[in-house]
Amino acid sequence: METMGNLRRTNYCGEVSLADAGREMTVCGSIARARDKGGIIFADLRDTTGILQLVFDEDTPQDVFAKAESLKSEYVVIARGLLRERAAKTDKIATGDVELYVQELRVLSEAQTPPFEIRDGINVNDDLRLRYRYLDLRRPSQHETIVLRSKICQIVRNYFCDNHFCEIETPTLIKSTPEGARDYLVPSRVQPGHFYALPQSPQLYKQILMLSGFDRYFQIARCYRDEDLRADRQPEFTQIDEELSFVDENDIMTINEGLLKKLWKEMLGIDLVTPFQRLPWDQAMARFGSDKPDTRFGLEIRDVTEVFRGTEFKPFAAVLAEGGSIRAINAAGLADKLTRKNIDKLGEVAKTYGAKGLAFSRLTAEGTASSFEKFLTEAEKTALYQALDARTGDVLLLVSDTDWVRACTALGQVRLEIGRKYDLIDPDKFNFLWVVDFPLFEYSEQEGRWMAMHHPFTMPKPEDLDKIESDPGACRALAYDIVLNGVELGGGSIRINDPALQDRMFHALGFTEEKARASFGFLMDAYKFGAPPHGGMAYGLDRLVMLMLKRDSIRDVIAFPKVQNAGEPMSGAPDVVDPKQLKELSIALTDADQ
Ligand code: AMO
Repeated sequence: METMGNLRRTNYCGEVSLADAGREMTVCGSIARARDKGGIIFADLRDTTGILQLVFDEDTPQDVFAKAESLKSEYVVIARGLLRERAAKTDKIATGDVELYVQELRVLSEAQTPPFEIRDGINVNDDLRLRYRYLDLRRPSQHETIVLRSKICQIVRNYFCDNHFCEIETPTLIKSTPEGARDYLVPSRVQPGHFYALPQSPQLYKQILMLSGFDRYFQIARCYRDEDLRADRQPEFTQIDEELSFVDENDIMTINEGLLKKLWKEMLGIDLVTPFQRLPWDQAMARFGSDKPDTRFGLEIRDVTEVFRGTEFKPFAAVLAEGGSIRAINAAGLADKLTRKNIDKLGEVAKTYGAKGLAFSRLTAEGTASSFEKFLTEAEKTALYQALDARTGDVLLLVSDTDWVRACTALGQVRLEIGRKYDLIDPDKFNFLWVVDFPLFEYSEQEGRWMAMHHPFTMPKPEDLDKIESDPGACRALAYDIVLNGVELGGGSIRINDPALQDRMFHALGFTEEKARASFGFLMDAYKFGAPPHGGMAYGLDRLVMLMLKRDSIRDVIAFPKVQNAGEPMSGAPDVVDPKQLKELSIALTDADQ
């Protein structure tokens, strides 16, 4: 192994071009691939910007050529040489027009054979990949993702700083407060039996910062939620978090459309058209069966309740008698694909989401196959076909339920399944929309009480204020989510800045005076000292990067992600600790834990 001596980088591999031909330069990085052609050696040198071909031939000093013969993949080198136009140009790499004729070479580190090849398009299992994440991150596509993520953060910072926002860090060892997901807890050594929580978001601190007069805050903030992992959910994730004073919900949406417009333009060269559609929550549910609708394809849900008013078809009649509704999708032109077997599979999807079943009519040229039409009158049939614009070749799918949200949710999932399975979704589209007017509360059967749908500090819509106690289910919130391609990218709300109203909210959520004070007393006190109207929102940065760069999982856009068991495979976290550490923290494990 050698040192760099007095060689220092003059150029990055991926940034040289034909315009630099004829220049002497020094580059450094890892050998991606070396090919000894006998008398001439080619080596692809990779650094964080890309790849440059190094050449060693009969004109290369002999000692340098000898060293080049020993080069293997992943050796770390620094090389000085002359950049020349390449005879056999290639467009496989960005620098395919040039190559470096090396005159001086230093091998700075040798490398063992890696457990998998360091290139894109390899088939390695995730466990191995993440155990050797440092090697995985050398692969160009993985590497580029992390570099682009950094660029995204830079654009976000610039946008906020240009718009009077102040970047402020908030604590990550905080008080555990009720109402969110499960907390990660950190024991206090100096206060035995006391615990910090890691923040699920900087929510309370950013509200307090508005009371401190900072006017506009942002932070790229780490958040922690002890939830099960999914393709778009990690226990440890990052938010682009913001809070603004003296604004209403429309101001916040407009400012954020500006941010998204800038991001998409600067990162992808795409001009997003703003303002984005603003869809009230009840319409999103009724039309798409989701509070994060994927609007890249049709197959909208329709309400066909009136068609069946007075029907003799028992299952529908029973639901209607209880005040329920009947919702339907016309899978237009899909009769060929939606065979009986495939419809059964869709029925399973509907059931997973609470539907009792999925009624269907398959309208083919050979006739109709239906699970329910034989029980309908001609008039009902005609009315149904009319309501759904049904034609030969279509498949009608219906769910009846006493709860319209459940009926729509089940059909919404059927809709997504059809969209994905039968290629109805254009992967090149970026469909943004705001979902607004969320319910303020949702009832939890498990808890037997109303819970805040967003969080307890969310301002009710002014016209619903008098329903907080009398009809919580009908109250709507000044809350909004930004949705992209069926994924909740972010969300926020206008906050309550009136202590009396906040008291009413806590009361409606079933808090006793004492519990509210014990959990949120500091916040309630702060609001007594003059609070500007304010609101904010937070994006999931990982989700944003994933969708923008069209990656399948947020794991791909996080340098060191967690896996299914919430572990980090490279370092082996979480791990057992020395009993001495536990003793210092006054923690004793139960037998079951040991
Ligand atoms: P919310 O809980 O909706 O709001 O979170 C905001 C956004 O954060 C992302 N997100 C996640 N991303 C990855 N893994 C997770 N486990 C995860 N959980 C959430 C989502 C989500 O839209 N304080 C409020 C915001 C506000 O009111 O200002 C909040 O945290 O993209």
